[in-house]
Amino acid sequence: MKFEQVLPPFVKIIEAQDMLYKPKNPLKIRVVQNTKLVPEDYEEDVRHIILDLKNTNYVYTEGQSLGVLPPGVDEKGKPHKLRLYSIASPYGGDPDYPNTVSLCVKRVVYKNENGQVIKGVCSNYLCDLKEGDEVLVTGPAGKHFSLPEDPNTDLIFLATGTGIAPFRAFLFKFFYQNHPHNAKIYLFFGTRYKKDHLYANDINNDFLKLKDDRFVFYSALSRENPNKKIYVQHLLEEHKEEIEEILKRKNFIIYICGLKGMEDPIIRFLRSFYEKTYSLTLSEPEWEEFFNQLSRLNRLVIETY
Ligand code: FAD
Ligand code: A2P
Repeated sequence: MKFEQVLPPFVKIIEAQDMLYKPKNPLKIRVVQNTKLVPEDYEEDVRHIILDLKNTNYVYTEGQSLGVLPPGVDEKGKPHKLRLYSIASPYGGDPDYPNTVSLCVKRVVYKNENGQVIKGVCSNYLCDLKEGDEVLVTGPAGKHFSLPEDPNTDLIFLATGTGIAPFRAFLFKFFYQNHPHNAKIYLFFGTRYKKDHLYANDINNDFLKLKDDRFVFYSALSRENPNKKIYVQHLLEEHKEEIEEILKRKNFIIYICGLKGMEDPIIRFLRSFYEKTYSLTLSEPEWEEFFNQLSRLNRLVIETY
């Protein structure tokens, strides 16, 4: 089976920075600001945390992650391992906060099988940080989740929850730093409610300020209507025609970030598009090869956790 006629060509992505700080030589930086992204009365906690990079050599490319080394030891008495967080700001920092780096962190709290409340080590540490506190960080990490070099590439951003972080960095790079982009940018973003619609709610409306013909923003609120769960993949189906137009133009990158569970339905959407549009019937191994090729060509980029 020859896929060349169907597949888009290879697209070059912006080369990301090499890792500068490893767990053995982390960088100590201070908290500039730690603010809630959800209302006080909301059942969960998600924070926007700005860290100071002034007088450091820390450089990063949008789409990369930063490692955090939480203090203390694990149950075996070993220092806690680092946790990765997608960088939520463009390089240089948020508008009004030059030389900083921002994270979007959800406080992990859950009950184990014995009904005991367990608090995630690093997310609780980060969410409790105060202005001026010091944090040990590593990175930047990851090189595949990067913007295209070609500004005419249509972009499809698919996010759930804190998976929105790298897309905020991308969007801010376009909108606040005038990084050239001449093609469409679709953002499909899924959260539970309006209240936890990060950067697009009453607490922080960063995305709602971005008005431009290039930018299309679709919100999937899974629990706002108790009778109908709406996920990112449902909206993708709903707006199938617009997305299929983009796929047919063959100059796009699809980025997926957030919950692992959204990967499969999105990948099924793509498979169905290719089979229908190009009259293909792909066996499982053929589809796997096709899918791998889409990734190798940088047309499909996934960061789920
Ligand atoms: P830990 O102490 O490590 O505990 C987490 C563990 O608890 C899980 O592995 C799971 O086994 C268990 N657990 C968690 N919830 C439940 C539950 N409901 N029921 C049962 N068991 C459960 N997180 C963000 O908030 N923002 C980001 O931008 C972000 N970006 C990431 C980017 C990458 C590339 C990766 C790999 C991860 C990213 N994460 C992000 C996740 C982050 O790295 C941590 O895993 C997360 O904060 C939890 O760490 P913790 O130390 O608080 O929890
Ligand atoms: P829900 O939890 O209502 O099923 P979280 O708040 O846990 O970080 O999740 C972010 C959003 O992703 C929530 O709206 C959640 O919906 C939704 N979600 C959960 N599972 C999936 C999935 N398999 N595909 C797409 N979205 C999902």
